[in-house]
Amino acid sequence: MQAWSDVVLPDGWTLEVIREVDSTNLELQRRRDVAHGTVLLAERQTNGRGRRGAQWQSVPGQSLAFSVGLRPDTPRSQWPRLALASGLAVAEALRRFGLEAEVKWPNDVLVKGRKICGILVQATEDLAIVGIGLNVGQPGFEGELDGVATSLHLEGLSDVDGVGLLTTVLAELEGWTRQTGSDFHHLVARLRECCALTGKQVTLKAVDGSHSGLVRGVGDSGALLLETRDGLRSFLQADEVRVVF
Ligand code: BTN
Repeated sequence: MQAWSDVVLPDGWTLEVIREVDSTNLELQRRRDVAHGTVLLAERQTNGRGRRGAQWQSVPGQSLAFSVGLRPDTPRSQWPRLALASGLAVAEALRRFGLEAEVKWPNDVLVKGRKICGILVQATEDLAIVGIGLNVGQPGFEGELDGVATSLHLEGLSDVDGVGLLTTVLAELEGWTRQTGSDFHHLVARLRECCALTGKQVTLKAVDGSHSGLVRGVGDSGALLLETRDGLRSFLQADEVRVVF
């Protein structure tokens, strides 16, 4: 078995592994002077945070839970693109291991329609924190996650080493987050190919309420394009996207 010190990091990035913390996202928010490319991985989170204020359960030894502090050199207004870059990065990493991973816009990662990875991107004035929770070894899911979540193990990849997985995810993350500036069209082009929602009927919650319609794809700005009864709408942000069929 390899050790975390064997993880190959992008140039200038650092990795710190801690036994236990409430949440790796919260921990990076508390720290001062977090350098670009600081990766903080926790073997156990006691208060893992999900999107929309939800809890994120990561099972020690069965999931990867880590956060990456980034200081992008792009204008702050373009930082929301990091969410798309992160989802795409994880999907691409999983594809390298042979999984048909897709991005459920903006940044859930699905395999055969089931969620294998959740991502929480949070930003302070000058630091973006990309928190990634990846289901690796879970043999099954119960309760509300039954039939909704999956893991690498459940998808037939039971012998993937966490070190190789983290190395691959971080390499993809570094590459795609660099494409959130003038190269963003490349990112969008790839995202369109990996978009789990295109052609699906969905309902989504946006700031101005709920909307239903057929997903037409991803626009040049990274927005989700939805054909609604009132015409084509584009959403740069949405709280929850639910696939109806
Ligand atoms: C989601 O709701 O889908 C996002 C889940 C994000 C979970 C990860 S685990 C590592 C990092 N630390 C947290 O507290 N949350 C993120």
